[in-house]
Order: sequence, then structure tokens, then C-alpha cells
Amino acid sequence: MNTGLDYSPAAVPVLKAVFMEKFREEILDGLNQTPKRLQSKYFYDKEGDALFQQIMACPEYYLTRCELNIFQHKTAQLAGFIRSYFNKEFDLIELGAGDATKSQYLLKYLADQETTFTYIPVDISGNILSLLKKRLIAVIPDLDIRCLEGEYLDALSNAIELSSKPKVVMFLGANIGNMEPHEATVFCRSLREHLKPGDLVIIGFDLKKHPKVILNAYNDQAGLTSQFNLNLLTRINRELNANFIIEQFEHYQTYDPCNGACKSYLVSLQDQIVTIGHKKITFTHDETIFMEISQKYTLKEIDFLAENSGFMPVHNCADPKGWFVDAFWKVV
Ligand SMILES: C[S@@+](CC[C@H](N)C(=O)[O-])C[C@H]1O[C@@H](n2cnc3c(N)ncnc32)[C@H](O)[C@@H]1O
Repeated sequence: MNTGLDYSPAAVPVLKAVFMEKFREEILDGLNQTPKRLQSKYFYDKEGDALFQQIMACPEYYLTRCELNIFQHKTAQLAGFIRSYFNKEFDLIELGAGDATKSQYLLKYLADQETTFTYIPVDISGNILSLLKKRLIAVIPDLDIRCLEGEYLDALSNAIELSSKPKVVMFLGANIGNMEPHEATVFCRSLREHLKPGDLVIIGFDLKKHPKVILNAYNDQAGLTSQFNLNLLTRINRELNANFIIEQFEHYQTYDPCNGACKSYLVSLQDQIVTIGHKKITFTHDETIFMEISQKYTLKEIDFLAENSGFMPVHNCADPKGWFVDAFWKVV
């Protein structure tokens, strides 16, 4: 069993320092823009990871249940697709793996079928990767797993340096929706550039549906999404020596059914000045910070994205309600 040594102990403080510098720069840069914005990749510290796990279990957040249904009930079909393309060893790389809630069913099925593969989960949160690793090793003791902490494409480059085996890249949970449509095109083109003809990608997309269903998913009654967004301010306070007064900001969600953009904001409830290190950021009453987009797609838009970025759409696996699809694309 290879449990995967992620980085040498000596490299850890250096990587941490590089991360902190980028974190500080990107937070200040975003808050100095008009309109202000923060990047949702920074939601995921230890508290953010735990809040996201609660969001996945909350009644309004249908996305996880839909994709879980696909991975629990169409496991043989998903594995069959992969095995029909690869009759030799391959790397199964999962970008933004989180706690592998859904992918674990596919991993277990492949392992039970004695398929030889290395699972390489990638995540910006080292905390969630250590939880994932503990959980998966308990369920699939023989899993060959190598965790890579880092950003999607940087870590993908590292994974490619580790081996020249064919690649299956999974990008689940509608993470692709956290990019504006033009950013998703740039991302998919870059993903394509990293891969070789014959490699496969599996991407989870949340589909356009009744606007109320979508809006409610991000306006849960328990207020978890609100806490998840506000937690980033708490993280900035703790890690960047800032003084946001959390009660002076409020979560606000929108969904535009015409363009499929579901967006979260924090609204400043009064005029205020926040200090981050030595920098001062001024907020006016009702000024917003754009926090995250969760873009919704049609099947036609998904196929267009594939073709426009150098992939051939092969199959869409949908849940029984037709609310979510995992799209299989082949590199051409
Ligand atoms: C919405 S969660 C989904 C988790 C998992 N894919 C699922 O479907 O349950 C997003 C995950 O992607 C990670 N993530 C977000 N932005 C990232 C980035 N730029 N690079 C690497 N990981 C990222 C987060 O830490 C988090 O674990």
C-alpha cells in the first residue's frame, strides 16, 4: 500500500509562506477593486471545510444528493466507461476533491474490480486532504493514494511530472460553476493542454432548473451558506491580522435564470473602515463584496464548452431528476 507522502517536511514551511503571501496579495487586491470581490477558493480553512460538509448534508443543497445518486447508482456504468478506454494502469486525478463523498463509490468499485490505478486527490485545503486520506484508507485499504495540496492546474502539473500513465481527471461537485463562463473556457483549454489524446475528463455540472430551487440551495434555513461566506472574513481576521466585525456584514444571494449565474455577496451594514495588517479598506453602507459564482448550465452549453476547449463530449450521466450531470469528455 502506498499511502502517499505529499511533500517533504522541509518543504512545508516554504510552501506555507508562499501560500500566505499570495493569500494576502489576492485578498487586498480584491478588496481594492470596484466592485469589491474575494475569491471563494479561500473559503476552505478548517472551519470552512466543516461548514461545507454541513452544507452538503442540508435539505436545500440538492447538488450533493443528485451527484451522489449518480456515483452510488451508476457506479458500474462510470467504471465501465473508464475501463473501456484504459486496459492498462492509469492515474485518476480528482481536482478539488474535498472529502471524496461521491468519488469514494467509484474508487471502491474500481478497486473491487482489481483495476490498477493511482488515485491523486488535489485540493487547496490540506486539512480536507488529511480527512479524505484517513477515510479512504479505512474503506479501501489497498488504495494507492497520493494527496497533492495546491491549486488545480499547478497540482495537475505536479501529478503529470510524477508519472506518464494515461490520465482520468475528475472535477466534481459543480466546482466548474465557481468560474465565470469565460473563465471556465480558459480553464478547460488549459486542462486540455495538460493532457494527451485519449485521456478522459469527468466534470460535474449543475443544470438550469426552477429558479426557486436554485436560489433556496444557497439560502438554506439553517444559515449555513451565510456562515460559510462570513467565515472567510473570520479567516482574514485570524491569518492576516484584520479587524472585520462579522456582525456588520450580511449574506445576500441572487440567481439570474436568463444567464444561469447564481452569485453570493456580503453586504456592509454600515459605513466602516477595516484594517488588514497596515492597509485600510473603506466600506460604505450597503456596499457589496462579490464572494462566489455558482454558474448553472444547459446540456447544449456543456457540449459547446467541451468542443470549444479541445474535448469530444462522450456521454452525460444524469441523476433521476435530471438536475445534475457528470459529463464524460475525451481528449482529441
Ligand atoms: C465545493 S467543494 C466540492 C468538493 C468535492 N469536489 C465534492 O464534490 O464534494 C470545492 C472543493 O474544491 C477545493 N478548491 C476550491 N478552489 C480550489 C482551487 N483553486 N484549487 C484547488 N482546490 C480548490 C476546496 O478546498 C473544496 O474542497
